[in-house]
Amino acid sequence: MNLADERPPMAPPVPTTSSSRLSAVWLGSRPTHDADQDVARAVRNVFPRQPAAARINREHHLLITDALARRGITQILDLGCGYPANGQHGAADPLLSQNTHEVVQRHWRAASVTYVDNDPDVVNTRHTEIAATASQTRARTLLADITDLVELLDQLERTAAVTRDRPVAVLAHDVYPWIPDDDAVISSVAYLRGWLPPGSALSFAHATAEMTPTWIQRLTGVYAEAGLTFRPRGRRFTTDLLGDWVDLYGGPVRVVPTARHQPGHHESKAPDFHAAAYAGVAIKPYT
Ligand SMILES: C[S@@+](CC[C@H](N)C(=O)[O-])C[C@H]1O[C@@H](n2cnc3c(N)ncnc32)[C@H](O)[C@@H]1O
Repeated sequence: MNLADERPPMAPPVPTTSSSRLSAVWLGSRPTHDADQDVARAVRNVFPRQPAAARINREHHLLITDALARRGITQILDLGCGYPANGQHGAADPLLSQNTHEVVQRHWRAASVTYVDNDPDVVNTRHTEIAATASQTRARTLLADITDLVELLDQLERTAAVTRDRPVAVLAHDVYPWIPDDDAVISSVAYLRGWLPPGSALSFAHATAEMTPTWIQRLTGVYAEAGLTFRPRGRRFTTDLLGDWVDLYGGPVRVVPTARHQPGHHESKAPDFHAAAYAGVAIKPYT
């Protein structure tokens, strides 16, 4: 008998969850599997506000995208974009069921929007849904690790997805907490700040333990048990990432609890710990 015949049939891979899949659970934007629901349940047990915090982050993303488009920025980089918010499945909340390119292209039909994620399933899903729903749009999706900025920016320049002759808005919302290496985050953002042309915007939203330390510590533990590295950081870290640029509205950069950044946010009066994250938006000066 051939030895190979004695091997048991290969078991199907055990599905695991990811930050992108959990984000889809909180927004209700995708079908989920048991592994996602198990981790989601454990998260809700230690931090019941997590789904609301994800919705606060997402609404901020849409408001700030709109504000930057109104400012006249027509090139957008959405780093750690996650799954599409609408398309075939649709977010549970119609307010949140919009994608970055749909918001920008309401102002600028020809605006270029580049989605970036290192999760191949996110990228494939976006390719399929963008192709199916928006044939005229200049939206594209790249598979890349945002800590390898040299490779990513090279790819963007080669494909003419972004040009350096006009400002670019970079949206990095709830992505850096999933990158545990502080030095990798600091050096890649510093590289990005140097590369971006004047007038460009950097928008960050970053989870923090400063508003509710015990809950966030437990939350980090649940993620660790699920094999996910989650690193909340303080206001100082996010402020430093924005360097010596100026605030979107002038003066020194304001880094505030996410729901309070944009006055039109539905949760702008909610206690800070509901967001459990800081947001800041800075503009690269011309001189
Ligand atoms: C929690 S989701 C955030 C989605 C979206 N930005 C939002 O705010 O709703 C985090 C996303 O970042 C992506 N991500 C994590 N680390 C990354 C990396 N090093 N490079 C690119 N994407 C990354 C994940 O795959 C996931 O889709």
